[in-house]
Amino acid sequence: MKYKISVIEGDGIGPEVVGSALKVLSRVITKYNVDLEIVKTPAGDDAFKKFGEAVPESSWKEIKSSHAILKGPVGETAGEVVVKIRRGLDLFANIRPARNYPNVDSLKKNVDLIIVRENTEDVYIRAENEISEGVTVALRLITKKGSERIGRVAYEFAKQRRKKVTIVHKANVLTLTDGLFKNTIKELKASYPEVEVDEEYIDSAVMDLVRRPERFDVIVTTNLYGDILSDLAAYITGSIGLAPSGNIGEDKAMFEPVHGAAFDIAGKNIANPTAMLFCTGWMLQWLGEKYKDENARKAGISIENAVLTVLSKKDYLTEDLGGHTKTTEFTEAVLSLL
Ligand code: IPM
Ligand code: MN
Repeated sequence: MKYKISVIEGDGIGPEVVGSALKVLSRVITKYNVDLEIVKTPAGDDAFKKFGEAVPESSWKEIKSSHAILKGPVGETAGEVVVKIRRGLDLFANIRPARNYPNVDSLKKNVDLIIVRENTEDVYIRAENEISEGVTVALRLITKKGSERIGRVAYEFAKQRRKKVTIVHKANVLTLTDGLFKNTIKELKASYPEVEVDEEYIDSAVMDLVRRPERFDVIVTTNLYGDILSDLAAYITGSIGLAPSGNIGEDKAMFEPVHGAAFDIAGKNIANPTAMLFCTGWMLQWLGEKYKDENARKAGISIENAVLTVLSKKDYLTEDLGGHTKTTEFTEAVLSLL
């Protein structure tokens, strides 16, 4: 099997962390004999300046015909880029795990959760209007079909984990939209007798994420709440620089760090490449599982393990984790284990 992978280098620290990822990727595909073609597809602020579009047509063509996409963080045009890809390829499940890492200092211990964020609806349809001078509205789309398919993803994850799904919503105010989301996912419980389901309002859930994160196993939520929750979930485990995410659809997937372009530290070789490296490992594991390719799967696991080992030694902590290790030094340390 030959895989075509679109790589978006992105803006700010994007080229640095993606550079790290590509070095590691090229090492493991050689070692594990994975046939992979990498196509660089410009998208983001720089692409906008050059081509007049955040996702130029030439990039979009490549992206659409790829098996998977590895995406670095994008700057001001991120909304256009991610929404076009997530909605355009129907990557409806945004999976955002947060967990403690061995020896990494964190605000909270006992974090081991997955946020299952609906990825194609809600205010992310970006239907905003100025209806008169000084009066604006945004539409919020929630469908039964969309709620059901994301709900199933959450239950399936929970089955493999601690068997608990928490629906996070604000149905006390958004009675119709969040009401539909919540009720649809509650009804699914009948098909998953072994999984326990409860619910929490978004405001209370953010508090609990800091107060008692062990309360959460699988969180399922709408697009915007999932966006907000996932930054906090990453932060309490040590740094947002650690958190990868997978945008998963029926046939394709895009892997990207939860963090942004971090222009303030760009070009200094101090960005933490961990999230981007986890994304790379996850992408290979996803390809391996999808296409029953043991080599790809092993290559992916080898990246994940190497990054965990480097982190756990504490000798290679980047600045966000209180250390002085440079992006390239961290990358070399990972490569030395591969
Ligand atoms: C994320 C990002 C994006 C989002 C932005 C950049 C549009 O914050 O992936 O979490 O809101 O989804
Ligand atoms: Mn976000």
